[in-house]
Amino acid sequence: MPFIGLALLALLSLSGCKQDDVDAGQVVELDATPYALSFPQHIVAPLLPLDNPLTVAKVKLGRMLFHESKLSGDESMSCATCHLQSAAFTDTAQLSLGIRGLAGHRNAMSVFNMAWNDNGFFWDGRAELLRHQSLLPIQDSLEMDETLGNAAAKLAAEESYQHAFIRAFGDDEVTAERMALAMEQFMLTITSFNSKYDRYLSGMESLTESELRGLELFTTEYNEFFPEFSGADCQHCHGGPNFSNNQYMNNGLDEEGDMTDIGRMAVTENPGHMGQFKVTSLRNIALTAPYMHDGRFNNLEEVIDHYNEGLHSSSTLDPALAATMSTGLMLTAEDKADLISFLHTLTDEQLAEETEYSSPF
Ligand code: HEC
Ligand code: HEC
Repeated sequence: MPFIGLALLALLSLSGCKQDDVDAGQVVELDATPYALSFPQHIVAPLLPLDNPLTVAKVKLGRMLFHESKLSGDESMSCATCHLQSAAFTDTAQLSLGIRGLAGHRNAMSVFNMAWNDNGFFWDGRAELLRHQSLLPIQDSLEMDETLGNAAAKLAAEESYQHAFIRAFGDDEVTAERMALAMEQFMLTITSFNSKYDRYLSGMESLTESELRGLELFTTEYNEFFPEFSGADCQHCHGGPNFSNNQYMNNGLDEEGDMTDIGRMAVTENPGHMGQFKVTSLRNIALTAPYMHDGRFNNLEEVIDHYNEGLHSSSTLDPALAATMSTGLMLTAEDKADLISFLHTLTDEQLAEETEYSSPF
């Protein structure tokens, strides 16, 4: 190998190229090799952004950026500090801590199957696309607290990034837009479809009696007249292959006067959206405690108790939930335990291990 490297070097110097054009024995140039997103057959193909087609080199650059602490003001934290792979790319704090230990206002969200999220990002949906989303934490004074100009300058000074930008975009100019496009690409490639439930769907594994009962409760509608046949109807909002309808809804966390965070209404200015938040995916939910936009529930038992008997009424409470309030969901202790067993089948143990998503440094 050293001979090939040397020969290449000699060739390059003959043609007038500089030594740093050689990276691990290869010429550094645009690499447009497409990245093929893979997902199981029972999952519908996502709508990927046509103006940012996935390439291996851009995904790789995005992965570097996601794990890069130079993007923060004091170089102490990266996106991955709050989005830990071991916890389905969220953290375990009630409210995320930013640089200098400053507490943010909301619970960190998980980052997987973003390609199947087609209706905005963040709890209130204020970022339309991932490329818009990814630049906001960098500039947020409670999160990474850095200017885009400084962040770009720090990267531009590093040879590894000069090469990565050339491979991704054709030249080594570091711009905020390029950073955003590359991070969007990396996040689009983080997929999670290898849970016990997926293996059950493809016939490779069976569910226990308790898990099957939980699945039934999850998908069966509430029926106040026939408690025996009444379900928890979680599917009403957490339905579909990603266990989310991609909508913003009010799931009864607070009464009108107690809402300290008005959620979606702050973005749309529509009073009908007061207290609405993103319906999050329930995949990997057993890994992502605490729960809700403000991390108020410590475990899944508390979440089930909320839906069963703890809903708070307000003018924007979703009608399907409001309809359950007179009796509650009428879940027995066994029902609750079964529902939780089912939620545990949505954990994809492989996500935490997948080396394509881990830090490249
Ligand atoms: C200080 C902790 C922290 C850091 C650092 C951080 N995030 Fe987040 N992330 C959060 C919190 C909190 C939310 C929810 C914020 C909200 O809704 O206002 C969030 C939400 C998101 C979402 C939305 C997911 C969805 O389903 O809508 C994505 C994507 C994301 N972050 C990616 C990133 C990227 C990329 C970076 C680095 C550039 C980053 N985050 C840095 C805490 C953090
Ligand atoms: C009317 C729609 C709706 C129904 C029905 C519903 N949810 Fe939710 N769910 C939401 C919304 C909206 C959120 C986010 C709320 C917030 O954080 O402010 C949420 C959040 C959650 C969370 C926390 C997610 C996280 O990332 O922190 C869990 C767990 C959950 N729901 C489980 C369930 C279960 C189990 C059921 C059935 C008993 C259910 N949901 C029924 C709308 C719904």
